Amino acid sequence: MDENTVYGDYLDVLGYIKDDLEKRINAYSAEYARTTGEKLFEHFTARVKSEESMREKLERKGLELTPRSALREVRDSIGIRIICSFVDDVYTNAEKIKAFDNIRVVEEKDYIRHAKPNGYRSYHLICEVEAPFPDIDGRDPGRYFCEIQLRTIAMDSWASLEHEMKYKKSVKDQELVVAELKRVADELASCDLSMQTIKNIIRERE
Ligand code: GTP
Ligand code: MG
Repeated sequence: MDENTVYGDYLDVLGYIKDDLEKRINAYSAEYARTTGEKLFEHFTARVKSEESMREKLERKGLELTPRSALREVRDSIGIRIICSFVDDVYTNAEKIKAFDNIRVVEEKDYIRHAKPNGYRSYHLICEVEAPFPDIDGRDPGRYFCEIQLRTIAMDSWASLEHEMKYKKSVKDQELVVAELKRVADELASCDLSMQTIKNIIRERE
C-alpha cells in the first residue's frame, strides 16, 4: 500500500468514479437541452478532495489518518457541486442523479426547505456509488461515497462569501457580520422564489 497518501491505493478509483459521474451528468444535461431547449443547471464542478484537505478534515474530526477513515468515515472524498439558475432545477437535477445506475442515496439533507441557522441553503445528497474495482472492505464491485451539493447561483455566491468569512476570524464586528449574512441569505432566498415565479409565468405563456 502507498503509505505516503491518506488515500492509500484508492486515489485512481476515486478519480475514475468522479469522471464517470461527470460524464453521466453531462449526458443527461445534453439530453435535457436537446429535448427542451433549456439548461438544467448553470455549471457544475467535481473534485476529489485534495490530500491536504482530507488530512485537515480527519485531524479536525479526531479520526485516524488512514484510507479507511478517508473512504468510509468521511463521505466527501468525491464531491460534486451543481449550480442551478432556479430552485426547481435543484430538485430536478437531484431526481436525475438518484435515477443513475449503481448509485444509492444514503442521506439527503434539504437545507433549502430547512435552512441552517446561519442562513446556509443547499441540497445535499450523500451517495454510495458502485465501481468496477474492489473497495477497502474487499467488496467487488466496490462502494465509494460521494457528496453531491445542489444549489442556486444566489445560494452559491452566499456560501462562497460565508466560507471566506470563516477563515477571517479576525474580522471586526463578528456578530454584526453574521447577522448581516443571515439577513442577506434570507433576502436571496426571497429573490430565488421570485425568480422561480417569473420563470413559471414565462413558461405558462409559451
Ligand atoms: P462535514 O461538514 O463535511 O463534516 O459534514 P456535516 O455532517 O457537517 O455535513 P454538512 O451537510 O453540514 O456539510 C457538508 C458540506 O456542506 C460542507 O463541507 C460545506 O461544503 C457545506 N456547508 C455546510 N454548511 C455550510 C455553511 O454553513 N456554510 C458554507 N459556506 N458551507 C456549508
Ligand atoms: Mg459541516
